Amino acid sequence: MGSYLCLHFSHSFSKFSTRHRTANSLLSKSSSFFQHHRCSYSDRVVSASIDARELRSTDLVALEYADLNLPYKDSGELGHVRIRQHVNPLSSSNIVPVQVPDWNEVYKDPTLPLMVDIGCGSGRFLLWHARRNNDSGNYLGLEIRQKLVKRAEFWVKELALSNIHFMFANATVSFKQLVSTYPGPLVLVSILCPDPHFKKRHHKRRVVQKPLVDSIVKSLMHGGKVFVQSDVLEVALDLRNQFDAELDALQHIDTIDPSVPCNEEGWLLNNPMGIRTEREIHAEFEGAKIYRRMYQKRYDGHFLP
Ligand SMILES: C[S@@+](CC[C@H](N)C(=O)[O-])C[C@H]1O[C@@H](n2cnc3c(N)ncnc32)[C@H](O)[C@@H]1O
Repeated sequence: MGSYLCLHFSHSFSKFSTRHRTANSLLSKSSSFFQHHRCSYSDRVVSASIDARELRSTDLVALEYADLNLPYKDSGELGHVRIRQHVNPLSSSNIVPVQVPDWNEVYKDPTLPLMVDIGCGSGRFLLWHARRNNDSGNYLGLEIRQKLVKRAEFWVKELALSNIHFMFANATVSFKQLVSTYPGPLVLVSILCPDPHFKKRHHKRRVVQKPLVDSIVKSLMHGGKVFVQSDVLEVALDLRNQFDAELDALQHIDTIDPSVPCNEEGWLLNNPMGIRTEREIHAEFEGAKIYRRMYQKRYDGHFLP
């Protein structure tokens, strides 16, 4: 499913930034999306403007994450990060659980509430959250592509953040150990646009398997949340079925919080996270719909008030 592959960095930011049109030209020609993001347009990105007619989803990613002000040309030895193939999570090198880090070395305050993003891709989504909550929460990104993790680590240093950590890990096999040793509460787990592995015989390669669901449900604090989404209906239904099977322990958010409404099929109407992930931006650019569910862990098995 090459066309699905989520992280195409072939249109690198350096290419993007050498264009000679002004930011204002882009902003004035394009949709309300850009109007909305105008105030967060950073200096480093202003020079990277383009004509709306030539807009590509990679350009939209750079715009959406402009406030992060990430260096693109200059990511040390990493050079250009180009991702083409799915990784096989069942290969012998990927089924060994990673070593648990010393959380005191990883985070400035390892007792803060933790959010884990499973299959975090480039890490921009998590970096954005970590920067906004740099004294109130810790963030852990698990990603099976090492090169993406290295670049994300480089960005963590650039942003001088002490509340975020990326790990090269197969989340399916390492999540439980990692999270069970974390000293603070687990408040949020996100699984956003996981690789679809369409062929039935490859479904076992999907990151969300029953043991992972069990570990998430068990590790979450009461009131903690799980947010899942996919632009592939079949994958979204799989995620939904797996978490709906845990409704003894979880409630879907629309039954608790009327400010997070769903459509009649039970999918969230809006993205509740404040920013879109990269795959989400690419998919919406191509006209796809995003199917989202958010669950909250019950308090001692009872409905919330
Ligand atoms: C389609 S991308 C989505 C990335 C990001 N969540 C987004 O929405 O832009 C799926 C990501 O999950 C990663 N991934 C797949 N299986 C994984 C696993 N078992 N453990 C950790 N990461 C995994 C892939 O390498 C890829 O970066």
